[in-house]
Amino acid sequence: MPKFSTKVKTKKGAENEYLPRAAEITKIRDLNPEVKHYTLKFKDGKALEYKPGQFVQVSLFGVGEAPISITSTFERGDDLEIAVRKAGSLTNAIHELKEGEELFIRGPYGNSFPWQEYKGKDILFVAGGIGLLPLRSVMNAIFHHRKDYGKIWVLYGSKCPTDCVYSDELVSWSKIEDVSVLQTVDSPASGWKGNVGVVTTLFSKIEFDPDKTIAYLCGPPIMIKFTNLTLEEKKMRPDDIITTMEMHMKCGIGKCGHCLIGHKYCCTDGPVFTYAQLKTLGAEE
Ligand SMILES: Cc1cc2nc3c(=O)[nH]c(=O)nc-3n(C[C@H](O)[C@H](O)[C@H](O)COP(=O)(O)OP(=O)(O)OC[C@H]3O[C@@H](n4cnc5c(N)ncnc54)[C@H](O)[C@@H]3O)c2cc1C
Ligand code: FES
Repeated sequence: MPKFSTKVKTKKGAENEYLPRAAEITKIRDLNPEVKHYTLKFKDGKALEYKPGQFVQVSLFGVGEAPISITSTFERGDDLEIAVRKAGSLTNAIHELKEGEELFIRGPYGNSFPWQEYKGKDILFVAGGIGLLPLRSVMNAIFHHRKDYGKIWVLYGSKCPTDCVYSDELVSWSKIEDVSVLQTVDSPASGWKGNVGVVTTLFSKIEFDPDKTIAYLCGPPIMIKFTNLTLEEKKMRPDDIITTMEMHMKCGIGKCGHCLIGHKYCCTDGPVFTYAQLKTLGAEE
């Protein structure tokens, strides 16, 4: 009988990339009625090294597996944090879990947000809805090295005030020196005193130099499309506009072909792309 190995050898000779590791949920907080934030610790005691913009494959045995962005920042010593919106079978099951229970993680996967090479630049973060989840990782990395960057703006739009995530952190970010946080909602609830309108309406309230600004965007496709167009009208270079894409994924490691964007795999070539790259891939809309 030939001997079969169940181990999948990777390019680097590491063991089975498909094998998830058990992680205990050490803390859960509600970000809004649909989204919960989870702090995780691996049961084998080994911390995960990751970069802003990467994602993990999160699974529950017998339920399923899904790609979820890492929202924490390794750079400042955070434990692994993810935030999950109820969307279907797996994410609903994750919402049922309590602190002390476990879920399974493989990864981290994907490329990452470039940020260290932009020291000295002004930074513009534009997020819509749960687009703030992946952006938070690079935001906290840059805030952790605040003095290395110029002026920083955070523009955040959500459908309504209760859809907003990380409300408390938006307030604390606005207190960091030379950081302006502007928030808007599409539909105000009674008592809302802030801006009303889609996130691009906030551009009329700020002035930035397109030659020295880097923009990071994340949100629903329609928001990305109009934000890219607005930034181009304001003479920003497509190379300086960086976004992260959410395609349907299965393996997460460039083997199944589920996540093609043009001729690139979103899971390994992305999920982070510049607007210039998206144009060449025909995926700018
Ligand atoms: C790189 C990446 C990062 C992501 N980060 C996060 C995150 O930080 N937090 C989070 O809550 N979600 C994130 N998602 C989306 C998340 O993976 C899906 O919501 C999840 O797969 C749904 O799984 P489910 O079993 O609960 O739902 P299912 O029962 O599989 O599906 C429910 C519905 O969601 C749709 N759906 C499934 N996958 C996707 C997808 N990738 N994009 C759009 N719609 C989808 C299905 O078509 C269906 O309509 C990310 C996706 C990608 C690709
Ligand atoms: S998810 Fe399988 S190739 Fe990208």
